[in-house]
Amino acid sequence: MSNPNQQIKKIAVFTSGGDAPGMNACIRAVVRSSVHFGMEVFGIHGGYQGMIENDIHPMDASSVANIIQYGGTILKTARSKEFMTPEGRKKAFNNLKSHGIDAIVAIGGNGTYTGALKFNEEYQIPIVGCPGTIDNDLFGTDFTIGFDTAINTAMDAVDKIRDTADAHDRVFFIEVMGRHSGHIALYAGIGGGAEGIFIPEKDNEFEDIIDSYEKKSRNKKFSIFVVAEGDEDGHAFDIAKKFQDVFPNIDSRVTVLGHIQRGGKPSANDRILASRIGAHAVKALTEGNTNVAIGVINNEISFTPFQDAIYNKKSINENLWIMNDILTR
Ligand code: F6P
Repeated sequence: MSNPNQQIKKIAVFTSGGDAPGMNACIRAVVRSSVHFGMEVFGIHGGYQGMIENDIHPMDASSVANIIQYGGTILKTARSKEFMTPEGRKKAFNNLKSHGIDAIVAIGGNGTYTGALKFNEEYQIPIVGCPGTIDNDLFGTDFTIGFDTAINTAMDAVDKIRDTADAHDRVFFIEVMGRHSGHIALYAGIGGGAEGIFIPEKDNEFEDIIDSYEKKSRNKKFSIFVVAEGDEDGHAFDIAKKFQDVFPNIDSRVTVLGHIQRGGKPSANDRILASRIGAHAVKALTEGNTNVAIGVINNEISFTPFQDAIYNKKSINENLWIMNDILTR
């Protein structure tokens, strides 16, 4: 099929920020859709830094064969300090021009979108964003690429730790990722049947949990608490210490899941979400719909201006929080 927007003939795709399972599926969708529309497509290796270092290479349909099932990103990723400077962005733009690249698909999180907006303001190059982060903290989509896999990884870890908690009658504090947000903690906590969940979007969880734990502890021998790394009460070790001060006779342990949540085979949901978003990113460019973040809201493709996607905070699902409170009493 030919591209209705004849101004865009060559596009480039890159991944930036923390890797997330499903990024490869998104790259595949971008490359194959570009080929479908008769456009040339390039892969930028290493995110914005690769743009600055001219690490830019032609791709075709076969470049993305046999990658849909893998975590990580074949294009590599980075957090570039140099791109935050006007000199770095100028180098990046000149490199894109030297390849004749007219438009870009950026896959990443809030930092990636912020860079894209700035770049577009300075050089007017059309850009669309695809939400790739395990944190699910991007406004303009119900779920980000990688979140579903990450919560399944975290939940699986909770199940395993639960065996030890039960066997030893211990309390476990399990820290999950989420620098500024509690989406992973909320979903992995509910799915894993955690006794309590600590997230930055809510205050006073410690007091509430101690209160309910005191009421229950006569019968309950072991417990699981899930803590988002960005919680305002501190990291899991800080919360465990406070807990130990209140209950000195209870045996407690801390497990920090860390980067295990970022890797692994993407789930079916992440592969499908990434494929839809990647394909619509290219379609959006052909239709002149640029400087937007692509998402899926209520199962429909959505387009959110970068400004809104960057500056609006995505709230946690309040209904899930309330429901969990009832289910864990
Ligand atoms: O934004 C994704 C994320 O995995 C956060 O949850 C986490 O805090 C951060 O990245 C870790 O980043 P890095 O891999 O650079 O340590």
